[in-house]
Order: sequence, then structure tokens, then C-alpha cells
Amino acid sequence: MNRKLDSELRSVLSNYVRYYNDLGIYDFYRRPPGAGDNPVLNLRNLKRSGGMPAAAEPDRDPATALRLIREDLGDCTRCPLHKLGRKQIVFGVGNPGARLMFIGEAPGADEDEQGEPFVGRAGQLLNNMITNGMGLRREDVYIANIIKCRPPNNRTPERDECQICSPFLMRQIDVIRPQVIVALGSIAARTLLAINASMSELRGRWYEFRGTKLAVTYHPAFLLRDPRQKKEAWKDLQMVMKELGLPIALRTAD
Ligand code: URA
Repeated sequence: MNRKLDSELRSVLSNYVRYYNDLGIYDFYRRPPGAGDNPVLNLRNLKRSGGMPAAAEPDRDPATALRLIREDLGDCTRCPLHKLGRKQIVFGVGNPGARLMFIGEAPGADEDEQGEPFVGRAGQLLNNMITNGMGLRREDVYIANIIKCRPPNNRTPERDECQICSPFLMRQIDVIRPQVIVALGSIAARTLLAINASMSELRGRWYEFRGTKLAVTYHPAFLLRDPRQKKEAWKDLQMVMKELGLPIALRTAD
């Protein structure tokens, strides 16, 4: 690379490299001039749907790989949330080899306190959906959020907070390689799929996301506010259970 890079380009490049390092990508190469559309850097990694390249997680066992992602995250100060009252980072919890992964929006007060996603009232309902509804245990699945720190007053995550945090979530997904991802609520669904659609448009169909099937259902906090929608959420879970080959008995997701 040209040693006489001007300082602006140097700064753009170092941000670029840091971003991809956060994704777990360390190897870069330069294509000969005219060979590609990016005159400076090209990545060996292929783009996958999901808006970001596949992370180059080396072939480690998933539990170790997740631990290393957590280490890379460190005591994160990459976005403003670290100075807006977050108590702790809420990384994600569950089976590193889970076939099913739930992705919510952001930690709330209980999660911020305990360092684990979905441990408050919405979490209780999610647990019921997993156990009473799907016949699984919470420990069988993996649960994470779009962002890992609580936004002040539980406000909706800002776009840049999602963008800064999501490389770590993408790495978690690439390590766990679940068979199915369920996006909980419109914020999670819209952020992951980069579609600005309503819940009625988003639900009831499959999406391809980083090589995994993704379905959308209501956020448990919404179901607590409007329990009449539980039967709709149950339809979504049944679609997921069918895909996972789970028996659909006469259960309810209450
Ligand atoms: N709501 C979320 O989206 N995530 C949590 O972890 C808790 C509540």
C-alpha cells in the first residue's frame, strides 16, 4: 500500500479495517488496478445476505468462538450507550450449538441489571413460548439482541448504535449457525432484514439471512400489552416448529 497515504484516507482505512476486525476478519489483499470495484481494499470474504460479509471465524468449537467474540467486545465504548447509563453489556445466552436463535431489540432494565437477555416480564413470556409453546428448554436455544447495551429509558435503538453493534451479533450468528432465527418484533426484523415494512407484512413467511432461515414474530413485550395477538404469535411459532421438525401438540404459547 502507498506509504504516502494522506491523513484522511489513512483515517478512512483504519476505520474500515477496525470495522472488519470487529467482524473477525483480519486478512486483506489488494487486487491489481482495474480488477475490482474498490480501488483500495478488497475482501477475500464473500458477501452474504444480511448486509455484511461472512465473518471469518476460524474452526473453533462454538463455545470457544463465542467466548472470543465476547473478549473482542471487551468493555465496549464503541457507541454512546456506554456513557448513557448502561450497567453491563448483555452479550447473549444459551446453547452455542442451538438450532434455534431468538433475536430481540435491546436489553431493558432487568437485563442491564442481570447481564442476560430476556429475564424480565417479556422474558418470562418468551420462556413460556419456548417451553409451553415449543416444547423446548431455554437452555436449548440461543437468545440475543440487536444491540448489547440498554438504551436510556428503553428508547428505540438508534441506527448508528445498531450499525456499530451488529458486527458482533453477525459473528455470533456465524458461529452458532442456527437452523432458524426468529426476529422478535419489528425493530429486530427491520434491522436484520433492512426492510421498512409493517409487522403484518413481515410475518408469516421465511427469509434467507446469512445462510439461515429467518421468521418474524411479535415481540413478547408487545404480546404483554396486547394478549389477543398471542394466537398470531402461536401461528408463527408453529411455522418455526414445522421447519425444525418439532411435534406440534395442542400447546399454547401463554
Ligand atoms: N426486550 C428485548 O428486546 N430484549 C431483552 O433482552 C429484553 C426485553
